[in-house]
Amino acid sequence: MAFEIFRDFDLTHSSTFQTKATAERFVRVEDVDELRDALAYAKEENLPVTILGGGSNTIFLSKVPGLVVKLDLHGFVLTQDAETGDTLLEAGAGETLDDVIDALLDAGVGGLENLAAVPGTVGGAVVQNAGAYGLEMAERIESVRVLRPDGSVVDYGVGDCDFGYRHSRFKTEAGRGEVILSAVLRFPKEWVPRVDYKDLEAYRKTRLEPTTPQTVAAAVRAVRAAKLPDPKEIGNAGSFFKNPVAEKLLWHHILTEHPGIPSYPLGGGRRKLAAAWLIEAAGWKGAERGTVGVYKRHALILVNLGGATGEDVLRVAEDIRADVEEKFGLRLELEPVVAGEKA
Ligand code: EPU
Repeated sequence: MAFEIFRDFDLTHSSTFQTKATAERFVRVEDVDELRDALAYAKEENLPVTILGGGSNTIFLSKVPGLVVKLDLHGFVLTQDAETGDTLLEAGAGETLDDVIDALLDAGVGGLENLAAVPGTVGGAVVQNAGAYGLEMAERIESVRVLRPDGSVVDYGVGDCDFGYRHSRFKTEAGRGEVILSAVLRFPKEWVPRVDYKDLEAYRKTRLEPTTPQTVAAAVRAVRAAKLPDPKEIGNAGSFFKNPVAEKLLWHHILTEHPGIPSYPLGGGRRKLAAAWLIEAAGWKGAERGTVGVYKRHALILVNLGGATGEDVLRVAEDIRADVEEKFGLRLELEPVVAGEKA
């Protein structure tokens, strides 16, 4: 086997939250053959497998049993659709999303810039259907190439991937054991800026005319830098909870008590509410509980104050969930993936 298997591997720097954790075994794979070998090895040794991309949306508990497979699958190939003039990009799952965005901008291709500075890899962004500032990954996906548990490689069209808000088939039973190798993204020939997200509109109007993909990327980066902690400086996993949906009756009840609450209509009288607002209203913004805090500039983000374990993080998350549920009648769902076992 070409690759090296590490035992009792320190995972602390393998996730952006930087929780203290150890993998029973760990391997890094650089192509599909190595990935196949690694999965065959896990099967032989009867080890459960955890696939790791950029680690920006994973909370590791102290012990991660089995084999952690870090995907270093690279690739960046631009082509043109002769019929439509659209640009197609085939990107390896292990490419850093933000580097891909920079390379697209350098090549004069707009269409992904609203996701500028989103941490993580292309594979992770597909699994999670990453979204920010008015754009979701799924809107650009043409197809996704996966290695299936039986060893075959298949291409799924965007319609096969069950994309939704922070959701895809790769988070469900149907996608269990499937590993994303690469994705093809399509960028329409005609670039249309997406600047209607509240935060961006204000920034664009005041500073950045005329609008180009570069200026939109710059605006997104500036807005993010002002609100979100840089994982290189403070351990975090971005938004820790999904924005919850309230049914009609509950929504009316909440609105009566909190007339200023931000919300987005969904249809059928249902509303998507801002989890950050609920958490702030419950008094958690800036709170510190031992090794874990709620970021002072954005209530949706939990941060590592130093030496946190995944167990510490989940404890605080659970306290926040219980409090928000008691005050608003809504149960928040975690956004990151939790891997491993308690010590
Ligand atoms: N708000 C508060 N208190 C706060 C922060 C925000 O009340 O401390 C309110 C704001 O006033 C606003 C609302 O909450 O009315 C929404 O805030 P924001 O625009 O910051 O967006 P978000 O819903 O909190 C989502 C994504 C982010 C993404 C931003 C921008 C989720 C779970 N999160 O956050 O994604 O960057 O929109 O598009 O959907 C991530 O998933 O890791 C992530 C960072």
